[in-house]
Amino acid sequence: MSTNGESIPEIIGEAAAVRATKPEAAARPAAVALPITVADLEKDPEVRAYIEAGNANLAVIGFTEHGLRHANLVSHIARNVLRRLGYDQREQELAAIAGYLHDIGNAISRYDHSLTGALLARDILRRYGVAPEDIAIVMGAIGSHGDDTQRLGEPVHAVSAALILADKSDVHRSRVQNPDQSKFDQHDRVNYAAVSSFLRVDPGEKSITLELTIDTTIAPVMHYFEIFLPRMLMSTRAAEFLGCTFHININGVELL
Ligand SMILES: [Fe+2]
Ligand SMILES: [Fe+2]
Repeated sequence: MSTNGESIPEIIGEAAAVRATKPEAAARPAAVALPITVADLEKDPEVRAYIEAGNANLAVIGFTEHGLRHANLVSHIARNVLRRLGYDQREQELAAIAGYLHDIGNAISRYDHSLTGALLARDILRRYGVAPEDIAIVMGAIGSHGDDTQRLGEPVHAVSAALILADKSDVHRSRVQNPDQSKFDQHDRVNYAAVSSFLRVDPGEKSITLELTIDTTIAPVMHYFEIFLPRMLMSTRAAEFLGCTFHININGVELL
């Protein structure tokens, strides 16, 4: 699976290289095991059907890719955000699960997909015997990750904040589903211009930086800011929720 020319294991490998653990994390109680891992969901035919149907629905109405690639990537990044910041295994797994399931509501409709997705996730997680308290965390994260109305996603939990950061960092040309460049809208153009994206979490500096490489012959950097202002606001709030600052670095220049 390739996102920006790197495979997900390579991205995770890079992330792991600078991982650190907060001192207070070591004092937390031992993680309580969940009855499932995200690997179970990756094999689940109902989950796969919803993700694939959601992506197909969005392709019809001209949206960028929201399929298994996006689900896998967001799941890995959300887990990594919490791992790098020293959260325990259980919270990391919940973030991975929320990341994998967060867009299944698109199988019903793009509109209010965060709310419908949260309820679909509840049914799926109940089937696996996940505790109501953990289902509530995943539902809260999915329900608060933002949609296409004027409401911004709001972090309500560390799992929720990690999901928002992971979801909003997926800007890449492989997301463009429109095969005809002459019919690109601004979202297509900015995504197509993004040749690499990486969310760097620095626990020492308490900073989270979205590093983008944008081909400015396709879209000027300003277009990114015009289109993604809501995403930047959501990411800033999510990083602050985790006790970090949020930054954007485009083509090697720190712009936020
Ligand atoms: Fe979404
Ligand atoms: Fe998403």
